[in-house]
Amino acid sequence: MALREIVTVPAPVLRRKAHKVTEFGPDLRKLADDMVETMREAPGVGLAAPQIGESLRLIVVEYGNEDDEDAPKKLFIVANPEIIQASDEKEVGIEACLSVPGLAGEVERHSQIVVRGQNRQGKLVKHKVHGWLARIFQHEIDHINGILFTDLATKVWKPSAEEEELIKD
Ligand code: NI
Repeated sequence: MALREIVTVPAPVLRRKAHKVTEFGPDLRKLADDMVETMREAPGVGLAAPQIGESLRLIVVEYGNEDDEDAPKKLFIVANPEIIQASDEKEVGIEACLSVPGLAGEVERHSQIVVRGQNRQGKLVKHKVHGWLARIFQHEIDHINGILFTDLATKVWKPSAEEEELIKD
């Protein structure tokens, strides 16, 4: 595994619609491993391939259970993720992004979604997620479509030192 540099705005790769993953070989596994290592080092709770300069539809997410602080974190690695169901119910939360340093914003997201995609072997997977996990997935899927949280935020500000502790993805 190797740490990769996180690209930040205004890097053009962050604004492109990323390419579909079609090869599920060792190169993809290496890329996914690098993304996991880079996300953990940041530290962040999610990362999309364009954030390390690779225009590919690949995301990693690692988050615990908001209802149980002691629950172990769960790692998701999803290629070609798509939201196939989304709740009508939405919630507003505060987001920050490793690729948009120094800003935080209030973003409305679906409370619950179902994500369909492929795992590292190319096998179809589905994940039903809610709350923060659903928010992180929506944030990462936006990244592979060239969308940043600042495009959607109803309010954007420079967080105070205390708020700098915000989780980022
Ligand atoms: Ni982000």
